[in-house]
Amino acid sequence: MDPPQGFPHGRYLPLFSGQSKGHRRMRIVLLSTVAALVIFLACIPAIVIPIRRHDHAATDLSTSSTDNTTDTNTTSSPGRITIPITPFPFTPFPIPSDTPIPGVFPETDPSNPPPVGEAPGLGGLLPDFEQAWETAHSKAQAKLASYTLEQKVAITTGVGWMGGRCVGNIAPVADFPGLCLEDSPLGVRDTDFVTAFPAGITTASTWNRTLLRMRGIGMGKEHVGKGVNVALGPMMNLGRIAQGGRNWEGFGGDPFLAGEAAYETILGMQSSGIQACAKHYINNEQEHARTMESSNVDDRTEHELYAHPFLRSVQAGVSSVMCSYNLVNDTYACENNRTLNQILKGHYGFRGYIMSDWSAQESTMSAVAGLDMSMPGDITFNSGTSWWGQNLTDFVNNGTIAASRVDDMAERILASWFLVHQDRANYPAVNFNAFFPLDPATNEHVDVQDDHFKVVREIGAAGAVLLKNNGALPLVKPRSVVIVGNDSGSAIMGPNGFSDRGGDDGILAMGWGSGTANFPYLISPLEAIQARARKDKSSVMWWNSNWDLDGAANAVQEMDVAIVFVNADSGEEYITVDGNEGDRKNLTLWINADNLITTVANNNKNTIVVTHSVGPAILEPWVDHPNVTAIVWAGIAGQEAGNSITDVLYGAFNPSGRLPYTIAKSPSDYGAQLVTGGSPSAILSIPYTEGLNIDYRHFDANNIDPRFEFGFGLSYTTFAYSNLQVSTIRQSDSNSAALEAAWEAGQPTPDTEGASAAIWLHRPFIQVKFQVTNTGKVAGGEIPQLYLHHPASAGEPPSILRGFDDVFLECGETKTVTITLSRYDLSIWDTVSQGWLKPNGKISFSVGASSRDFRLQGTVPV
Ligand SMILES: *[C@@H]1O[C@H](CO)[C@@H](O)[C@H](O)[C@H]1NC(C)=O
Ligand SMILES: *[C@@H]1O[C@H](CO)[C@@H](O)[C@H](O)[C@H]1NC(C)=O
Ligand SMILES: *[C@@H]1O[C@H](CO)[C@@H](O)[C@H](O)[C@H]1NC(C)=O
Ligand SMILES: *[C@@H]1O[C@H](CO)[C@@H](O)[C@H](O)[C@H]1NC(C)=O
Ligand SMILES: *[C@@H]1O[C@H](CO)[C@@H](O)[C@H](O)[C@H]1NC(C)=O
Ligand SMILES: *[C@@H]1O[C@H](CO)[C@@H](O)[C@H](O)[C@H]1NC(C)=O
Ligand SMILES: *[C@@H]1O[C@H](CO)[C@@H](O)[C@H](O)[C@H]1NC(C)=O
Ligand SMILES: *[C@@H]1O[C@H](CO)[C@@H](O)[C@H](O)[C@H]1NC(C)=O
Ligand SMILES: *[C@@H]1O[C@H](CO)[C@@H](O)[C@H](O)[C@H]1NC(C)=O
Ligand SMILES: *[C@@H]1O[C@H](CO)[C@@H](O)[C@H](O)[C@H]1NC(C)=O
Repeated sequence: MDPPQGFPHGRYLPLFSGQSKGHRRMRIVLLSTVAALVIFLACIPAIVIPIRRHDHAATDLSTSSTDNTTDTNTTSSPGRITIPITPFPFTPFPIPSDTPIPGVFPETDPSNPPPVGEAPGLGGLLPDFEQAWETAHSKAQAKLASYTLEQKVAITTGVGWMGGRCVGNIAPVADFPGLCLEDSPLGVRDTDFVTAFPAGITTASTWNRTLLRMRGIGMGKEHVGKGVNVALGPMMNLGRIAQGGRNWEGFGGDPFLAGEAAYETILGMQSSGIQACAKHYINNEQEHARTMESSNVDDRTEHELYAHPFLRSVQAGVSSVMCSYNLVNDTYACENNRTLNQILKGHYGFRGYIMSDWSAQESTMSAVAGLDMSMPGDITFNSGTSWWGQNLTDFVNNGTIAASRVDDMAERILASWFLVHQDRANYPAVNFNAFFPLDPATNEHVDVQDDHFKVVREIGAAGAVLLKNNGALPLVKPRSVVIVGNDSGSAIMGPNGFSDRGGDDGILAMGWGSGTANFPYLISPLEAIQARARKDKSSVMWWNSNWDLDGAANAVQEMDVAIVFVNADSGEEYITVDGNEGDRKNLTLWINADNLITTVANNNKNTIVVTHSVGPAILEPWVDHPNVTAIVWAGIAGQEAGNSITDVLYGAFNPSGRLPYTIAKSPSDYGAQLVTGGSPSAILSIPYTEGLNIDYRHFDANNIDPRFEFGFGLSYTTFAYSNLQVSTIRQSDSNSAALEAAWEAGQPTPDTEGASAAIWLHRPFIQVKFQVTNTGKVAGGEIPQLYLHHPASAGEPPSILRGFDDVFLECGETKTVTITLSRYDLSIWDTVSQGWLKPNGKISFSVGASSRDFRLQGTVPV
């Protein structure tokens, strides 16, 4: 049985540096606890220590010059900006102005989304969920008509930490059965008989929309099968810093890739009947001091980078959005009128609800800034108090908060429930217990796995990126194989031995924290390779110790091939592993990996390196070693990790994964770094001074050579590109003809509600066609990518990703690929007019195999 999660966990234990000794002790308990002790703790709820996230009420928030900072880049912030407790009027947001036009954009129900091949960027039509939302809101209004203020407030306020069987719970109210909210972005957390899917980062590195959709469908079905209403994912923060502890939960360092991944994941999840939750909104880009840091981001960068995946989520009909722990410009993200009301509900026309991250709510008045649901509902865990509940009722009764705001909050929550048809009579009841999985009365051990292991195995293989290959791969009947490294084998305490995966032992197939699920089993590379090698009668030896280098040197002598498995881990801040407080303390591989690889390579002329890493790592110590004949970047692949990598090594799967981030030669090459320092009493300021230049954009803009660039990945075959054709697509749409003409004339889009999501702005406008031919000797998949180059006056980075497809080709086969660009794709955000604008001058573009391997060039004909 998996260790239950009996102590405050998940996102819930902020242990940033500078906290009290009590907190530090708690951390040590977490780390030294083995499963048995955790079970003991879990079964006695009284031991759960309520931890205050931070204590605003009691601390002076004014700027202090005696902050204990360890980083010279730390600047003091002016202090938290709060919402005044004065009466606030409220007008609900009108719906976006577009109405469906048959044949131009189809009316869509979340249960029946358009097929993957009809993604907007592939020339397909943008689904229009407005009618589905409209119907859902009408049903919600009808249901709420007879509810009292107290009942509506109850719909918005969680029952408190551990007050129900799920990680978040809304109690039943009248004829509404309440809600179960459960982690995580890669599977159902805290329970059994579920699938441990590949992490977001590894799924993103497939660059395969079909696989992203299939994973979403599978995860959605499993959550529904367990009786969950709201699955807390996908995660779409951007990996602004390479060290970011939770980067692996998300989709990499580019907003377009993350946006497409979020879009497909949400369409898949919600088609299964689960409510998806786009998180963490917004600028929650590092774990250190996450509840006490202000991300200070300029308006253009916010719109073009960090908010983009959330816009795509809204376009996918997402039911809910989770606001994050941090502050944005000195205002907490969960009470930030600008990001919640103006951008998300206003400009994006979001019609679902916004929930707080766990204890990220900071005030009762957050309601007027746009927060709709308090999670888990109490001010601090088990405090028995709430910002909402009775407080919200009081604020309405004395006229401070408009009653219509609470109506709107409850309506948004019920509408999302109706949107994905959770009102159906046979919707499964909650049949697990996230806090007490060993309780026979409440955990029915329902098996929801189906055959999802198949897509797990495929994503693991498709997400593997072949970085180097001097002909060593694929393996062809090697006579002798030696498998080296701790990461190749099984963990001593089993796949779930570390609570919330907070440890690194054996094959790494998940990071740590609340973004995890329990493994039902975990196939190690050693196990899978041995099973495969039997077919060839290869001899298979192994050496698992990363520290005994003499032993490793001996073990690899005279072997046909040595495969070294290494890893790098990270996670959420409430667990520290080997000195990594969530964020990575460095970008090197773990457990003596560099020395191990070098030792093996010094002693075996056919050394293949496989990494299971949560993010980029510095490979310089050995990457050019002549005996390192191949490198496979295998990601964190979930329960089938060993099978997936074996499929790639033996050529059963021809690698087609591409890097979703840049691998640098030196940590300092990255454009933004982890900001350390801070204190429990002062807000740490994190200026996003790099602006638009994160990840590859920074390398391009500053002429820095990466080791392996964003979008890079090799195959066992080769591809040629040819026959570029560019044209415009002018769909007749009399509704928007004037707006289209104005845009083409260089006018910004209007500053109105729903304007950023307007269909005319997003539907296909430019069509780019070209041919890709498989010029090698085996069948394989290519990922053609399209990068825009704006005129210099636009102030954009040199190249920005704005399209990709995946195309599978037999030997010698040629296929035509069509990538379409919308007016939005071509636009930049104009901060003055608050609109999307076509920049002056010619926009050119390149099509190719990575962000630096351009094969065809063209110009946008407008
Ligand atoms: C600052 O840090 C030092 C060294 O870690 C410690 O001794 C000191 O107590 C800290 N001061 C404050 C104000 O936290
Ligand atoms: C401070 O920022 C500069 C520029 O962004 C960077 O070069 C430097 O390494 C940073 N210092 C620390 C201690 O992180
Ligand atoms: C944060 O401040 C910058 C600089 O003033 C501004 O451009 C941006 O819009 C602000 N963002 C939010 C969410 O307030
Ligand atoms: C909050 O945003 C809304 C929507 O844009 C706006 O109407 C309102 O004036 C803003 N409130 C404050 C206090 O800025
Ligand atoms: C209402 O909010 C205040 C904080 O402003 C808190 O101290 C109090 O306990 C809350 N009341 C209830 C009944 O939860
Ligand atoms: C309304 O009630 C809240 C909570 O008791 C209080 O903070 C606020 O000042 C009151 N406002 C008015 C106008 O009475
Ligand atoms: C892997 O290495 C770690 C750190 O040295 C060690 O604790 C663990 O026991 C090793 N696991 C295996 C399976 O060798
Ligand atoms: C980087 O951190 C990892 C994980 O804690 C550790 O194994 C490794 O030794 C560190 N590297 C360096 C160069 O300190
Ligand atoms: C490569 O491996 C062979 C053993 O097969 C060894 O003799 C040679 O020194 C190695 N090359 C390097 C550069 O270490
Ligand atoms: C993407 O995944 C789908 C589903 O398995 C598959 O049919 C397609 O061939 C894949 N694309 C490539 C390039 O392999």
